[in-house]
Formats: sequence, C-alpha cells, structure tokens
Amino acid sequence: MNIRHLLNEKVSAAMVAAGLPADTNPAVSGSNRPQFGDYQANGVMGAAKKLKTNPRELAQKVIAELDLSEIADQVEIAGPGFINIHLSPAWLATQLQLANQDDRLSVSQSQQPKQVVVDYSAPNLAKEMHVGHLRSTIIGDAVVRALEFRGEQVIRQNHMGDWGTQFGMLLAHLSDKLAHDEVAETALADLEDFYRQAKVRFDEEQGFADRARDYVVKLQGGDASCLALWKLFIDISIHHSEEIYQKLNVTLTRDDIMGESAYNPDLPKVIDTLMEKNIAVEDQGAKVVFIEEMANKDGDPSVFIVQKSGGGYLYATTDLSACRYRSFDLDADRIIIFTDARQALHFKQVEITARKAGFLPQDTAYDHCPFGMMMGSDGKPFKTRSGGTVKLAELLDEAVSRAQTLMADKIADFSEQERDEIARKVGIGAVKFADLSKNRTSDYIFNWDTMLSFEGATAPYLQYAYVRIQSIFKKAAVDTSNLTGDILIATPQEKALAVKLLQLEEVLDAVISECTPNLLCNYLYELASLYMSFHEACPILKDGIADNVKQSRLQLCQLISKTLEQGLGLLGIEVMDRM
Ligand code: ARG
Repeated sequence: MNIRHLLNEKVSAAMVAAGLPADTNPAVSGSNRPQFGDYQANGVMGAAKKLKTNPRELAQKVIAELDLSEIADQVEIAGPGFINIHLSPAWLATQLQLANQDDRLSVSQSQQPKQVVVDYSAPNLAKEMHVGHLRSTIIGDAVVRALEFRGEQVIRQNHMGDWGTQFGMLLAHLSDKLAHDEVAETALADLEDFYRQAKVRFDEEQGFADRARDYVVKLQGGDASCLALWKLFIDISIHHSEEIYQKLNVTLTRDDIMGESAYNPDLPKVIDTLMEKNIAVEDQGAKVVFIEEMANKDGDPSVFIVQKSGGGYLYATTDLSACRYRSFDLDADRIIIFTDARQALHFKQVEITARKAGFLPQDTAYDHCPFGMMMGSDGKPFKTRSGGTVKLAELLDEAVSRAQTLMADKIADFSEQERDEIARKVGIGAVKFADLSKNRTSDYIFNWDTMLSFEGATAPYLQYAYVRIQSIFKKAAVDTSNLTGDILIATPQEKALAVKLLQLEEVLDAVISECTPNLLCNYLYELASLYMSFHEACPILKDGIADNVKQSRLQLCQLISKTLEQGLGLLGIEVMDRM
C-alpha cells in the first residue's frame, strides 16, 4: 500500500483528461498540516506556468476529472493552485483492516527485484573495530534489511581491509610471539595493543623494519608459510568482528566477506586494461589516471594513482577491480557503498575511471553514501579520556551496563535473565537508534544521557511505547489473534494514526532510494508520538466504552504494535513485552 503512488496515478489520469501532457508530474506528497488535507498535489502550478495559464482555473479542471470516490471525502483547491486531498475515514479503515491481516503490513514486494550489492562495515583487520566502523555497519545493515523487506535481491559485500604493507610488521611480530610459545588467540586477544607493540618495534628495534619488509615481499610472492601466518591473523581478527556483529544484531556473516585480498589476482589485469585503453598513463614511474572531469578551478585534472612506482597496487586498484566483479560476476543493478565522508573523492575517481574502462556499465548505479563523524561532547572526534580510539566492543558493553543501572528499579523483580535481556536490548538499541536517527551526512555528538532517555526520539521511548501496548492487551485479557469487528476511524487522533500507519511503504522506499534510515527513525518516532496522543484521548478499557469501539481501538493498537516491531526490526533493534 503506497497512498502517494495511488494518488499520483489518480491525479495524473485527471491531468491527462484535463488536456495536460501525459508526462506532467502530479507531485503528490503528504501534507504536514491536517487542515491542508492528508496529501497535496502540487503539480498543477508547474504545468500552469509552462502553459502560461491561470493555475487555479487549471486546478479546477483537473479536479473536475479527478475520480477519488471512496478514497477521499473532500478535495479542495488552496492558495495559488494546490489540490488538498482529505482521505475518507471509511477508506482508511478498510486499508488498516487489510494491513492488520497481512504479515507484511501491506508493504508490497517489488515486482521486478533488482540485484543490489551493498558494501558496508568493512573494518580493517589489522586493528580492532572502532567507533568509525559503527556507522557503516549499522546504516548499511538497516538499508539492507529495508531492501530485502521490499523484495529486492541483496548481496552483502564486507570489503574488509585484510591486505597491505602493515601486515609485514604484524606478521613479523606474530611469528616472534609464536616462536616464544605464545598461543595466537592470546597474542591477538587485543588487536589494538598488538598493533601498538609491532609499531614500536618497527620504529625502534634494529633490524625489525627490514624483517617486516621482507614479510611483505614474501606475502605478496605467495610464500606458503607466510600466507598461513597471515590466514591465522585474519581469522582471529574476523572472529573479533563477528562478536561485534552479534552484539550489534547485524546480519553480516562470514559468507559476506569479500576482503581486499580477494581482488589480488585481478589487479594486474585492471592495470593492463587501463593502459591499453589509454586511460592510465605512466607518470614518474607510477601509473596514473588524470581525470579532466574533476579538474580544479585552474584546470588541473584530478590525479588518481592506480599503481605505485615500485609496482605496488593501491586501495584504488582494488576498488576498480571490485567494480568489475560486482557489475559482471554479481550482476549488480545497483552498487551501494557506505564509508565516511572523507572517502568521497576516492569513490568519485573510482566511478569515473571504472565507467570509462568498462568496469561499470552506464546503467549500473554506483552510490557512494558518505556519512559524518561521531563527535565527543567537546565537538571533536570521539576519543577515550586518554585520547585513544574508542573500541566498539567497549562502547557496546558500556551501553548495556548503563541501561542496566538506569532500569534497575523498574525491573527489579524480573528474573535475572530477563533483566539482562532488557538491558541488552535497551542499551544496544539506544546506541543504534541515536546513530541511525541522525541525518547521515552530518557529524553528530555522542551523548549517553540523550540516547538513553525515555523522552524524545530514542530507542527506549519507542520500546516503551511498544511495552505500553502489550500491557493494554494484558489488561484487556483478550486474545489478540481474535479481535473482531471493523476498525472505526472517528476521532482526529485515530485519523492521524491511520494515515501514518499506511505510510510505511512510502517511508521504506525513501530509505531505499536515498539510503537514509533516519527517515524510518523519524517515522517510528512520529508513530509512537501519535500513539501516545491517541492513548490520552481515546480510552480503550474504560467503563462505558462500547464493545465495537473497544474492539476497533484494540485492533489499531495491534497494528501500531506490529508496525513498531517491524520498523524497529528493520533497524536491527529489538522490542520486549515488558520493562
Ligand atoms: N576498509 C575501509 C575503511 O576502513 C572501508 C572500505 C569500504 N569499501 C570499499 N569498497 N572501499 O575505511
């Protein structure tokens, strides 16, 4: 059910009947004030301008042809030529009834599923996952879930950083530890620490840097024992990431890993193609693409190095290879990549070069979706008190323990197991929602108190709205699978709720096209707020409420509860029955 699409079709048909060209955009959108109707069609103004005619008169003609019988109970012209559409309560009630009977809540499945490759999370395995990878991981996962729910074909690609010269120093250090009978798992229990130790040796210990370089050469040359050591390192590091994925409730698995190293065999071929097609040229020993399309204001082309002068390949080379693999082996219709905004230039260069080289067909969409940084309360990049990077694992543990403290009184008499589960869902949910609800492209300030608050747009607020509905069901002592009678839309609160409930598909489509889960967060917050107002204004279990009204309101509650659960579920946030 997509009301906007439905109205767009109807208004479009009316525009054609009124003599307007078939490609006239009806421009229907939800209105933000109920007095202007539930939806507005604003397309007449643009059309009138083109035809140099009076927009109000044109709107009149369109309305005369507009058939919204049953759907709307009032249609009027406002201002210079807006068409305001007031949906009919009876029609809304029928749609709600249908949604409530449908597992998919009337969100339809894509008729022609697209093959969508989504590149997200992608931590660097040499180090521990830190807060910088939180955003990519959870924003990507929310978009993936929305795509799948709409019936698109998703291929997750975890483009892990598992290759590069830093592995020389890490492997040299690891081999020393193993030689001293240390177990790899113990040695690598803290990757951050391990990296620091190796770096100190690299900088200070005589001969170590040479050994590290030697390892790089051997690794690139495919030396078996060196590769085995590298595999061991990678494996343990992947395991660390998996623990985080589990804590975060994201859907990535080992099968989704397509690390940088997987592209190694293809890199020489990428360079060959670029040279043959004269896209890359030799410049001071390196292979470079000069991108005229991205020239600066002095006319100097953008410089994109694809092979270093010593012959080494780069992050850029791998991404060009990834374009080819995703386009032709994975058959992608659309490629989406989530990284922080500092990589925007890189992906622009990759896209332009890949299109020229034929690695990326014109009709394959390539969407780099940048995001802003997580900041501390001082407005500077988020760090530990001592100025180090914040490990994601520690941040998540802190979230859970803070939730535990916060809710200690409320849930004191629940079993220990239930208390732990609630704290986990609230704590992790709070971190995720706080991040997902921000406009993707802006930086945001990380704040424990706001994200864990039961007021405002937070996970706890939404989880609490869900819990309140469950307690109504319990109090009513009804079997929710057996509610009877029609849904009735009588009060303004019920009408506002009805329209909102039927907008889930519209919201998901916007989330999918713009890769902006914050729209779903807003939607759920608005839905929960409308529920709270409805709860105040429309008694359900009070004495004297007619049974048909009670049944109707319980069904509304049921659909709200399912929508909250589904919507939060698409963000990877769990609900609970009581708290
Ligand atoms: N590993 C990179 C980083 O941590 C992100 C990789 C994103 N994907 C890609 N195809 N380059 O910044």
